[in-house]
Amino acid sequence: MKPGKRGRIPIVLLRKSYYNPPVASLPIVYASTSGHTEYVVDTLIAFLKERLPSLVIGKKCVELATATDLDGDFLILASSTWNTGGPEGQLNPHMYAFVYGPGKDVVLKGKKVAVIGLGDARYYYTCRAAEHLEKYVKDHGGTVVAMMKIINEPYGQEAKVRAWGEKLLEILGNGEGNRIRIGIRDGSDR
Ligand SMILES: Cc1cc2nc3c(=O)[nH]c(=O)nc-3n(C[C@H](O)[C@H](O)[C@H](O)COP(=O)(O)O)c2cc1C
Repeated sequence: MKPGKRGRIPIVLLRKSYYNPPVASLPIVYASTSGHTEYVVDTLIAFLKERLPSLVIGKKCVELATATDLDGDFLILASSTWNTGGPEGQLNPHMYAFVYGPGKDVVLKGKKVAVIGLGDARYYYTCRAAEHLEKYVKDHGGTVVAMMKIINEPYGQEAKVRAWGEKLLEILGNGEGNRIRIGIRDGSDR
């Protein structure tokens, strides 16, 4: 070995593995009754897949979700707002059933979570699902790093969803996400 080379770290190799994680996963668990929330989720997924094809996105309807569906490098929870149980401004009943059912004992410690809420301006307590999801995440030890509210029909609000998706990529790229940030910094993923 030439003098000075001993013990040197192969910087190029290190960078390659740092910027290319084996898997980067993004679970999305959503509740949708007439399809509005699902439409927003699908619009977001299409945007993210376009920008980051290697990202593994797990879309799960909350009625079928179990606690393990919240596992992953990052998490998105999405729900419309309902008047479940009487008063306005509640979670969609399916999301409500999940957070007090299979999701009741979930530990989100250290988990970065983005939440999406949908609602309608005709209700006094508009789009409160977002705050309910935020509380759920905090109560379970997680951190909400982004929130989006879609008020009224989502059709025609696609640009807002994509702009939020852009913000999400920035958040992940700034290291606020866990391993996903590594993939995003890799120019080959763009
Ligand atoms: C029974 C019912 C109750 C609702 N209650 C509220 C409410 O309290 N606050 C609100 O902002 N929107 C409320 N909405 C509006 C929905 O949140 C909104 O239409 C949403 O886009 C539906 O999304 P989804 O099709 O994904 O369930 C209610 C809708 C229904 C059908």
